[in-house]
Amino acid sequence: MQKKRVFLTRTLHDFALKELKKKYQIEIHTGKIPIPKNILKNKIKVVDGLICFPYDKIDNEIIDLGENLKVISTFSVGFDHIDINHAKKKKIRVGYTPKVLTDATADLAFALMIDLVRRVSEGDRIIRNGKWRQIYGAHDYVGMDLQGKTLGILGMGRIGSTLAKRAKAFDMKIIYHNRSHVSKSSEKSLGVKYVSLNKLITQSDVISIHVPHTSETDQMFNNKIFKKMKNSSFLINTARGKIVNEKDLSIALKKKIIAGAGLDVFESEPIGKNHPFTKIPNIVLAPHIGSSSKETREIMARVTVNNLNLGINGKKPIYSVGY
Ligand code: DGY
Repeated sequence: MQKKRVFLTRTLHDFALKELKKKYQIEIHTGKIPIPKNILKNKIKVVDGLICFPYDKIDNEIIDLGENLKVISTFSVGFDHIDINHAKKKKIRVGYTPKVLTDATADLAFALMIDLVRRVSEGDRIIRNGKWRQIYGAHDYVGMDLQGKTLGILGMGRIGSTLAKRAKAFDMKIIYHNRSHVSKSSEKSLGVKYVSLNKLITQSDVISIHVPHTSETDQMFNNKIFKKMKNSSFLINTARGKIVNEKDLSIALKKKIIAGAGLDVFESEPIGKNHPFTKIPNIVLAPHIGSSSKETREIMARVTVNNLNLGINGKKPIYSVGY
C-alpha cells in the first residue's frame, strides 16, 4: 500500500522526522521562509497531512486545494494563521501545541518584565557602545522594583496564570481581566483579583498581554489605551504583535506617555535593524522566542507529530481545535 503523504513547511527535530519517515512519504520545504503561497498551493494538492508554523497562512484557498487533506498540525499554540472555520467545514482536523509551552512563555514574559524595569538590556547596550562613563552615581541607571507593584494580566488562561505564580513569588500585587472570572479557589491560590479592563489599564504598573489575536483584540493597545495607562507603567507582549498598534506605541514611548515595553511579537515578523523600535532605548526586543527552550521545542515537536498521526487517521488530535 502506498504511504500517505505529509508536507512540512519547515524542518523539525531529527527524531520527529525519523518517526514521520517510518509512516509517511514526507517532503520538507527548504527554501524561502515563510513558504511562498504559490509553492504551498502546489504542494497541498497531493498531501494527506500538513505540518505548518505560525508564519504560514493557511487560508481557505489553501484548504480548498487540499483535496486529500485530513489534518493540519501546527507547531504552535497560536492558530490565528489557520482558517479554523473553513477547515471545520471541510472536516479537516487541526492540531496545535498548548499546555506544553506554558512555562516557557510565562518565563519569557517574566524575563522581559524584569529586564525592562531593571534596564538590563539597556545597560548592556550602554556598555557595548562604550557609553558607561560614571560609576555608581546615586541616580545612575535607576530602574523600578517589582516588589509591591501591580501587575495587570490581560487573559488569565494557562500562560497568564503561570505568570501570576512567578509574580506572586516576587511579592507583586496581581490584578487580571479575562472574558470570565477564574474560580474563587484559583483566584485565592494565585493571589489574583478580577478587575474591569479599565481598572487593569489605569491601575497596573506593568501590563502583560496573554489573549489571542482575534478581530476583538486586533490593535487593542492603541493611543487611547496608552493615554489611560500610568506614565510610569510598562507593557509586555508575548501573545501576538497585531494586538498592539506599533506606531502608537512608538509615539507613547517617545513622548513618555508610558515608561517602556518588552516585546516578543510584532505586527510583521521578522523586524529588521531599521525598525523604529530599535531606536527607542526603553524597549526590550526579543525575536519571537516565547516557546523557544530546547526542552519545550522538543515536546512541541512530539505533540505536533502525535497530532498529525491521529488526524491523518481521522481521529481527533490530542490538542485539537475546530473539527
Ligand atoms: C506560539 O506557539 O504560538 C507562540 O507564539 C510561540 O512562541
